[in-house]
Amino acid sequence: MGRKKIDKSSVKIYHISMKDILILGIESSCDETACSVVRNGREILSNVVLSQIDIHKLYGGVVPEIASRNHVEAIDVVFREALKEAGVTMNDIDAIAVTYGAGLVGALMVGVSFAKALSQATGKPLIAVNHIEGHICANYLTYADLEPPYLCLLTSGGNTSIVDVVDYNNYDVLASTVDDAVGEAFDKVARVLGLPYPGGPKVDELQKQGKASYAFHTVLLNNGNFSYSGLKTAVINTIHNSQQRGEEVNAADIARSFTVCAIDGLIKRTEQLLGVTGRKTVAVAGGVGANSYIRQRLDELSKRGYRVCLPKLALCGDNAAMIASRGYFMYLEGQFADSLLNANPSLKLRGQKPHH
Ligand code: KG4
Repeated sequence: MGRKKIDKSSVKIYHISMKDILILGIESSCDETACSVVRNGREILSNVVLSQIDIHKLYGGVVPEIASRNHVEAIDVVFREALKEAGVTMNDIDAIAVTYGAGLVGALMVGVSFAKALSQATGKPLIAVNHIEGHICANYLTYADLEPPYLCLLTSGGNTSIVDVVDYNNYDVLASTVDDAVGEAFDKVARVLGLPYPGGPKVDELQKQGKASYAFHTVLLNNGNFSYSGLKTAVINTIHNSQQRGEEVNAADIARSFTVCAIDGLIKRTEQLLGVTGRKTVAVAGGVGANSYIRQRLDELSKRGYRVCLPKLALCGDNAAMIASRGYFMYLEGQFADSLLNANPSLKLRGQKPHH
C-alpha cells in the first residue's frame, strides 16, 4: 500500500473552510452610514446603521451634498462602534467589503475612500460590492439554511428585477423595470399625496384603510418586463383631474389602488418565472419587501407550496451586514479589488441593460 500523497492546494482549501471568516462591511450609498461585522457570511456580530432620514425629511428627499457631508462626519464613529459591538479589532478582520455602486456618487465615495484607506493601513484585502447584490444576501442573514438556486424578487428604491440566483456568485436577470423602480414610484406617489419623506412606508400605512376602487393599468409589459412611470403618471393625473373638477380625492383609495397595481404585476411575473425555471424558492430583497401588501401576496405563494424568504425588516433597508455577507462569498472566490477602486453611481446588476 503506497502512502497517500498530500495535495497542497486541497490542504489550503481545507484550512480556509475550517477557519471562521470575519468580514467588515461598509455601506454609504444613500442616506445611511453603516458598518457591520459578519462571521462566515451568515452570522451578524454587529450591525450599526446611522440613518440621516430626519435630516433629509426637512427637504422632502435625500439631498446628495448633505448626505455626503454627514457620511464624512459619521463613518469613523460608526466603524469603531461596529468593531466594539462585535468585540473584535481590525486584527480579527479577514477582509473589508464596501459598497461601490450604485448610489449617490459623493455618498459612495466616502465609504470607498474610507475602506481603501483602511485596507492600505491594515493590509487587509478590499472587496468591491454591488449594492443590489448585497440586498440579495440579506436573505442569508435571515435564513441560515438558504442556498441557491432560487429566484430573487428585487424591490428597492433604485431597482426592480426578478433574478435567478444560480449559485452564490452567479445569477441571471430574468425581468426588470424599463424605467422607474417600484420604490421610486411609491416615493413619488407619496409626494403627490402630500405624505412626508420617506414615502413608501407612509403609502403603506394609508393603503391599509383604502379600497382598490381606481382602475390603473398593469405594470407588467407584454415582453415580461415592468414599467412604473405610466402607473406613476396615471396616479398623478387622477389626483390633478379630481382637484381641477373640485372633487375630493380619496387618498386611502388612491394609495390602495396604486399599491395593488404596483405589486400584483410583480407577483404575477414571479409566479410565471417560478413555473418556467422550476425553482421552488423565492427570496425578496430591497426596501419594498417591507410593504404589508407584498408580504400578504407572498404569503399566498407560500400556501401554494413555494418557499418564500423575507429578510427581517431591519435587513430590508440599507445596512452593511448584507454588504459583509456578499463580501464573504466574493472572498471565498478570491474576488478582490485594488487601490484604484472608485465609486460607480450607475452600476447595474450583471446582465441588466441600462434603461436611460
Ligand atoms: O432597498 P432600499 O432601502 O434602498 C435602496 O437601496 O433603494 O429601498 C428603499 C425604498 C424606498 O423607495 C422606500 O419608499 C421603499 O423602499 N419602502 C417601501 C416600504 N418601506 C420602504 N415601499 C412600500 N412600502 C413599504 N412599507
